[in-house]
Amino acid sequence: MALFCNIIISPKPFVLSCSYQKTHLSKTPQNTKQDAIFKIKGPATLSGHITISGSKNSSLALLAATLCCSGSSLLHNVPNISDIQAMASILCSLGAKVESFDGKMMVNSDGVGKIEVDLEEMRKIRGGFFVIGPLVARFGEAVVALPGGCNIGKRPVDLHLRGLRALGAVVELRDGKVCAHTANGKGLVGGRFRLDYPSVGATETLMMAASMADGITLLSNVAKEPEVVDLARFLNDSGASIEGAGSDTLVIWGKSQLYGSECVIRPDRIEAGTFMIAAAITRSCISMSPVIPSRVSCLIDKLSEAGCKISQVDQHTLRVSAVPALYPGGDDLKSFGIKTSPFPGFPTDLQPQIMALLTTCTGSSLVEESVFDNRMSHIITCLLPSSMKSALSIISFSLLLWIARELQKLGARIQVNGNSAIVFGKDKGSSLCGSRVIARDLRGGASLILAGLAAKGTTEIHKIEHIERGYENIVTKLQNLGADIERLTPPSLSSLL
Ligand code: EPU
Repeated sequence: MALFCNIIISPKPFVLSCSYQKTHLSKTPQNTKQDAIFKIKGPATLSGHITISGSKNSSLALLAATLCCSGSSLLHNVPNISDIQAMASILCSLGAKVESFDGKMMVNSDGVGKIEVDLEEMRKIRGGFFVIGPLVARFGEAVVALPGGCNIGKRPVDLHLRGLRALGAVVELRDGKVCAHTANGKGLVGGRFRLDYPSVGATETLMMAASMADGITLLSNVAKEPEVVDLARFLNDSGASIEGAGSDTLVIWGKSQLYGSECVIRPDRIEAGTFMIAAAITRSCISMSPVIPSRVSCLIDKLSEAGCKISQVDQHTLRVSAVPALYPGGDDLKSFGIKTSPFPGFPTDLQPQIMALLTTCTGSSLVEESVFDNRMSHIITCLLPSSMKSALSIISFSLLLWIARELQKLGARIQVNGNSAIVFGKDKGSSLCGSRVIARDLRGGASLILAGLAAKGTTEIHKIEHIERGYENIVTKLQNLGADIERLTPPSLSSLL
């Protein structure tokens, strides 16, 4: 019987308790060494079909939502990745029982006895913060750390906290922790709250809280992301009454109790998007399923604009072709611009991968990041002396001659100015060649894999734990498509030295 901490899914169910060793909890599912690397020999040509895993971000939200429910909740198609493992550990640290088997997770939170989350576990993932809503709503109190996760900007939680206050919670910041409780031992009460920005996480926190508040809640300017829709579906199946998911206004009729239900996690639109870009950057043809095309329509439009041929083979299967002979006139892919924005706009979680693709197109492109303030970290320099770093806010990046970072080490030519970048295509100075690079966050790491697939020669990617937070079996999936990619662990590494 395997322990969940290793997430090697055992054929038989096993039960997590909160008493197991902390050292186990910090292990990643796909081997355990912090200093394992990916080694890619390019350029690759991909072919074949891949299966898209369940959505990481939907799974995280639904796992948090199981805290709202009496009895057991059963989630199918949960990806085997370290972020999910960290979330399961958070639930366990609260006293929930979590079982994992065959891609399913069963959670029963009836035994939750603590309201203070294991802070070390919580700092690992942003999604861990989402437990604040269910904890206050069902148990009347929550103590959580300020969130961790990818290094993509300041990522404040003010909207979560102000929204909870609008539902009657008392919320204070103490010693880096957020302490929230309901007033006078009463539960949350329905209210009105308008989000200044359609934050996905704040929308999810408030949906969970309002589902158990006394009375009706009206939330406006909420996120319309598919993960919000998935959460609403799960909560409604569990007895909640939420209307408007997918629009910018939610009306929620609070219920005194929700009951665990069963749910199949929808496919991960960002993983699907990453593989679509993999086909494009390697000028290959691959198919993938399951995909919900409407959730990746913005990317379909952009790749089509570049010259890729994307066809819907059946309801949940897409084929992406960028084989030169197959696109009109046989010209190479053309550059295009993107600006990230909330759904249905271009997803910020595909911005780094698109940047890698654009270095292989013809022409130059403008990429603008409008969701996170530091997502250009995969290209902005970290090599500056600290005296210069502090000056970055007042000196235009153009004066610094756009010092390159990881993608540039692979031969990309990119100029960054604040939260936008000009990406020069292959006829404008970019020429991808293998090199040694470091993943600094999940999606930036994925962009390095894509660039490595397209680059001539060998690329070594370090700090792959960032990538394994969010992509299930990425090496095996790429190998099955014909890529020459390996995951090397320290013994094999040392034999290379
Ligand atoms: N924001 C605030 N105040 C808040 C909350 C957010 O100002 O209280 C701002 C953030 O600073 C940011 C913007 O709103 O500039 C968007 O943040 P949002 O809250 O929408 O993002 P999130 O909930 O923290 C989720 C995903 C991210 C994804 C974003 C945007 C999860 C666990 N994470 O984060 O996924 O990028 O929505 O779509 O659902 C990833 O998978 O790699 C990832 C980072």
